[in-house]
Amino acid sequence: MSNSMLRLCLIFLTMSMMVFMSSAITPRVGFYRTSCPSAEAIVRKAVNKAVAKNPGIAAGLIRMHFHDCFVRGCDASVLLDSTPGKLSEKEHPANNPSLRGFEVIDEAKAELESLCPRTVSCADILAFAARDGALAVGGINYQVPSGRRDGRVSLFDDPSQDLPSPSSNAKELGDSFARKGFSLDEMVTLSGAHSIGVSHCSSFSNRLYSFNKTHPQDPSLDPKFARDLKAKCPPSSSNNVVQLDGLTPNRLDNKYYTNLMNHRGLFESDQTLLSSHSTAGMVRNNVRLGPAWAKNFASAMVKMGSIDILTGRQGEIRKKCRVVN
Ligand code: HEM
Ligand SMILES: *[C@@H]1O[C@H](CO)[C@@H](O)[C@H](O)[C@H]1NC(C)=O
Repeated sequence: MSNSMLRLCLIFLTMSMMVFMSSAITPRVGFYRTSCPSAEAIVRKAVNKAVAKNPGIAAGLIRMHFHDCFVRGCDASVLLDSTPGKLSEKEHPANNPSLRGFEVIDEAKAELESLCPRTVSCADILAFAARDGALAVGGINYQVPSGRRDGRVSLFDDPSQDLPSPSSNAKELGDSFARKGFSLDEMVTLSGAHSIGVSHCSSFSNRLYSFNKTHPQDPSLDPKFARDLKAKCPPSSSNNVVQLDGLTPNRLDNKYYTNLMNHRGLFESDQTLLSSHSTAGMVRNNVRLGPAWAKNFASAMVKMGSIDILTGRQGEIRKKCRVVN
């Protein structure tokens, strides 16, 4: 073989290796186009049906995707049920009893298994479902790269390290999101998800009754807002829930930031975004820029969906999202 032929062969080999590797490693939009063409349509149908009955399910699914991706990456570890003697992520207080929407994932998965067995991962179903929730209650649409595989491990303690707390300050929130590759700006953008859904009283009642030694009530709360919250959350009623966004409770929009301006952020981790110099300007921008926020939110959700994912031959495609194969 001539020298130049050899060189050409080498170039060709390298290039096909690169194409092969990128298709194995990088998830892509339309991953199921040939293997299960109606995968995304089936998930969307299940989500729309559930959200029509209860718009709060959209909030549940968006939050579930966040709690999946921040803990062990987007590998559907949050969906795994506990096994005898071994509690899983979903039992952690950050998830139980507040995380909701599991039955929507189960329904979509059951339909997909009968149509295209062992093909569509639970991690992808959850990523699609979160997007479909954002579309249904926010008109926010974006394409979701897919090809994630499902993990085989889910540990009770993991959420403690990876999920921020509602009493976190801006520095702690920034650090928590930075560990997952996000900027402060992206953290503020994603917090806008708190413009839908509800919270249990127990997640913020310290702000009403036992803030600190000198102030039983958090002075950064608007007094009227605090009165309303106390009415909905009497001292011993941690099972009650309160809307996160009193202005447009079922609409995923930038009203979250308006609430912060009015000192009506529900969690310390919300209000701190306005009281901290490092993030206050971002909050103000998002009040003014609704469409820009929505666009940034979509990009940040796509980025969140790519945290530490399993691809290629890693992990597995679960038959049922609640148990490993
Ligand atoms: C910035 C740090 C964050 C903290 C500290 C935080 C904390 C919380 C807490 C404590 C609840 C209420 C749970 C309950 O008691 O019922 C909640 C609800 C919620 N969170 Fe977050 N969260 C954060 C970021 C996010 C992100 C990034 C998203 C999604 C992109 C998100 C989406 C939601 C949604 C949609 C709800 C309402 C859930 C429902 O109605 O079922 N949160 N969050
Ligand atoms: C309680 O919180 C308020 C408002 O953040 C603060 O000004 C005050 O110093 C705090 N008191 C104590 C004892 O930490």
